[in-house]
Order: sequence, then structure tokens, then C-alpha cells
Amino acid sequence: MKTDDPIIRILLIEDDEDDYVIIRDILSDIPKWRFQLDWVSSAHQAKEHLLSMDCDVCLLDYRLDNEDGIEVLKTLKKSECKAPIIMLTGYGDHEIDMEAMKAGAADYLEKGNLEPRVLERSIRYAMDRARALNVIQKSERGLRELSSRLVEAQERERMRLAKELHDSIGANLAAIKYMLEAKQLQMGGENEPPEGPTLEKITDLLRETIVESQRIATNLRPSILDDMGILAAIQWVVRKSQEVYSSIHIETEIKIMEEDVPESLKIIILRIIQEALNNAAKHSEADTIHLSLEKDGGFLTLLVKDNGKGFHPERLQTRNNLSGGMGLQGMRERAELYGGIFQIDTAEGKGCALKAKWPLGKSVSGSD
Ligand SMILES: Nc1ncnc2c1ncn2[C@@H]1O[C@H](COP(=O)(O)OP(=O)(O)OP(=O)(O)O)[C@@H](O)[C@H]1O
Ligand SMILES: [Mg+2]
Repeated sequence: MKTDDPIIRILLIEDDEDDYVIIRDILSDIPKWRFQLDWVSSAHQAKEHLLSMDCDVCLLDYRLDNEDGIEVLKTLKKSECKAPIIMLTGYGDHEIDMEAMKAGAADYLEKGNLEPRVLERSIRYAMDRARALNVIQKSERGLRELSSRLVEAQERERMRLAKELHDSIGANLAAIKYMLEAKQLQMGGENEPPEGPTLEKITDLLRETIVESQRIATNLRPSILDDMGILAAIQWVVRKSQEVYSSIHIETEIKIMEEDVPESLKIIILRIIQEALNNAAKHSEADTIHLSLEKDGGFLTLLVKDNGKGFHPERLQTRNNLSGGMGLQGMRERAELYGGIFQIDTAEGKGCALKAKWPLGKSVSGSD
């Protein structure tokens, strides 16, 4: 370490003053080190301290007065403490070592074996790992943010296309059909050229094209959602699926009011339901799908559950899985877009339950 290296801020959580003195001396014996050591003697004081002061690394005594070291570690990990925590113990115990690691400790050191070289190395490694983890977490946040914005942009673009299709192409097709039918009436079925398609055939094709363009516009953005709201839109999606997949029975249990659902969450819920129903119909071989939407405490919970053949979720859960479909990943991204949690509960032969849960009254990127 060079003399112009930054000072390392160390928080020692230790209830024994003698141990504090020993550790301070060991730290002072690390060659060329610049550090600032703050000492507190309880978890409570540590939390207070961390609220007002950052640190680079915490040294936590496993045996604090009346406090279970592992519990303290877990509480600190959940709190404001972003620094790596190294656990110190009077004597080594493999089980506690494993438990500490599982609870997020950066290292586990025996006080009896503590010497400057060991402590310096442990702190250096812990800080390096924390820095690397920080970079990974930052880039993950960036990716999540980007994918949220992509989903939002896609929804906006779909809305624009649906409107365009409806207002320009749809309106023109309707006008052409009207004019053709009027012509047909005027001609009274006479004077048709002897060859080529009849006016009636052309009108039929046009009629099909109009229906098709309406179908595409509706898929892009179901106008029922904007006209009648999420509850009507869900019933409409369920009715449509029921018509297409008549061998599957879809039970719905909607226990919310229209005003319970924030505006920007509505299209997210509808898209997830559409994909979940499509997946169940395409892949599950189920005969029943249960769909429920309810308010529970401060959360809105959507559940789509089928009694079909299920699948191995591990194969599909990674974000980088490029071979799988876009459906499950898209559902997760949409759910997270509004600060939600998305869970898949499935196993081979055990059906599939998709659950999305959103906190109400707080949106992450939504405007409500
Ligand atoms: N309800 C379900 N029951 C059984 N298997 C399912 C179910 N939902 C999804 N799967 C399995 O998970 C895979 C991935 O689903 P996903 O929706 O991501 O993609 P996809 O439906 O295959 O394609 P896409 O949705 O992109 O058209 C499916 O191919 C299927 O094997
Ligand atoms: Mg799918």
C-alpha cells in the first residue's frame, strides 16, 4: 500500500475492550497501512454508526453480549451496511464458519490466529470482492432499467401502430368497401367483365382484410382496455381464449375494483394474463386454468395456475437463456417494470403456477 492510497475505514463491533486493543495493535502493525478504526460494542450502536458514517469493512465479533453473531450479521446485511463483514471468533468452528458464509460474511477469522499479514489479506480480499460485486450489481441494475425502457417503448409503439392501423388503413378500407358495395348496387349485377374476379369476390376479400386488420390492431392494443378498463379487458381475454381453446376450462376469481389498479399497471397485467393463458393452452395439456387477481394488504397479486404437465423451471429462468421462448422472460420483465415480483412454481407433472405481485401505492417506473 502506498502512502497516497486512501484511508481504509474499519468499523469494529466488539464488546471486549481488550480485544479492541489487540485488533487495533494488529492493524497498526500492518506495514504501510493507512486506516481509521471506529469501535462500537453492540449491534445497535453499529447500526446507529452506519446511519451516519460509511465504512469500507466491518469486523464483527461472533460473541457479542447476549447477541447471536449470525443474527447480528443478517440484520446488518439487511440494513444500510454495504461494506463487507468479516466475522471474528474466539475459536474456530466449521459449522459457524459455514453458517456465517451463508449469511453473507466475507470471511471468518479466529482471533487466536490473527496476525497483521492474515488480517491485511482478509480485508484486502473482502474489499476487492465487494468492489467487484458492486460493479456487477450496478450493471445488472443498468440492464434491468434498459429492459424496462424497452418494454415501455414497445408498448408505446404498439399503441401508435394500433391507432395508425385503425385510423388510416382501417378507415380507408372501410371507405373502399362502402364504395365497392355502392358500385355493385348501381350495376345491379350487370355489366361485369366476362373474365377475372367478380365485384362480389373483391368485396369478400376486402371484408376479410378489414377483419384481419382489426384483429391485428386489437392484438397490438386491446381498445377495450382504454374504453372499458382492466376488469372488462380480462373478461374479454378469457372469453377469447375460452373460444379458441374450448377443451380447457378457465376459472376466474377477480376480487378487485377497477380503481384498485394503477393505470400503467393495467396493460402489464393484461399482457401477462394473455401470455400465461397462451402458454397453458400451448404447452401444458391442462384441462383447468385458474386465474385470480386480488388485493392483499398493500399488494396486488395475480395468479395463473394450470393443472397440466408442468416443466423444469431451472432450464428457463436465466436472463441469458437465448434458446427458450420470449414469453416467460417477457412476463418477468413486465412484472418487474412496475416494481413487482414474478415467481414460477412448477415441476414436471405438477402443473404450473405463475404469480406476479405488485406493491400498491408505489410505482417504480409507472407514472401513477
Ligand atoms: N404452463 C406451462 N405448462 C408447461 N410448460 C410450459 C408452460 N409455460 C411454459 N412452459 C414451457 O416453458 C417454455 C418457455 O415458455 P415461453 O413462454 O418462454 O416460450 P414459448 O411459449 O415456447 O415461446 P413464445 O412465448 O416466445 O412464443 C415453453 O416452451 C414450455 O416448454
Ligand atoms: Mg410462450
